Amino acid sequence: MEKLIGRNLNISVFISGRGSNLLSLIKYSNIKKSKIKINLIISNNKFSKGLEFAKKNKIKYHVINYSKKKQAENKILRYLRKNKIDLICLAGFMKILSSSFIKKFKNPILNIHPSLLPRYKGLNTHRRAIENKDKFSGATVHFVTPKLDSGKIILQKKVRIFLKIEHKLYPNAIEKILKKFSL
Ligand code: GRF
Repeated sequence: MEKLIGRNLNISVFISGRGSNLLSLIKYSNIKKSKIKINLIISNNKFSKGLEFAKKNKIKYHVINYSKKKQAENKILRYLRKNKIDLICLAGFMKILSSSFIKKFKNPILNIHPSLLPRYKGLNTHRRAIENKDKFSGATVHFVTPKLDSGKIILQKKVRIFLKIEHKLYPNAIEKILKKFSL
């Protein structure tokens, strides 16, 4: 990622469903002093509730037909380039990005995962934590690598309640990235 000199960090958020993390990022980016800008929303699901937040906030969005993954990813890469995206934030995006996509994008890709990684990679994290009678769960923001839910951890928080903590953790993790790339 190139250094940001006098400009905002352009973010694309990828969603598939409810979009509560997307909404928290939009709210965060709307704070007056914020240097982050949500420029583009990508969804693989036209029924994703999160798309309502895109419409309400007048953020550009694209629904991508994922029946052919390679074509879908190439299309997304074109949109990312066109919108000069510096950072991708996966927020409940239910498709796995190919390693070729990750390589081609070149800039960082983050994901938020509802567990204390490396515990409970993959799906049904809450159910598994409850089944194991864990006292705590949490959320993790990490870099996306070709290996599912295994990239370097940026921030992690341990709590009894899941989602509320995600909504604080994601903006804070982006802020950390922003610091690293600002002069
Ligand atoms: C969150 O629990 C997130 O950690 C996981 O998927 C869920 C997405 O929720 N990756 P939302 O769509 O942001 O409300």
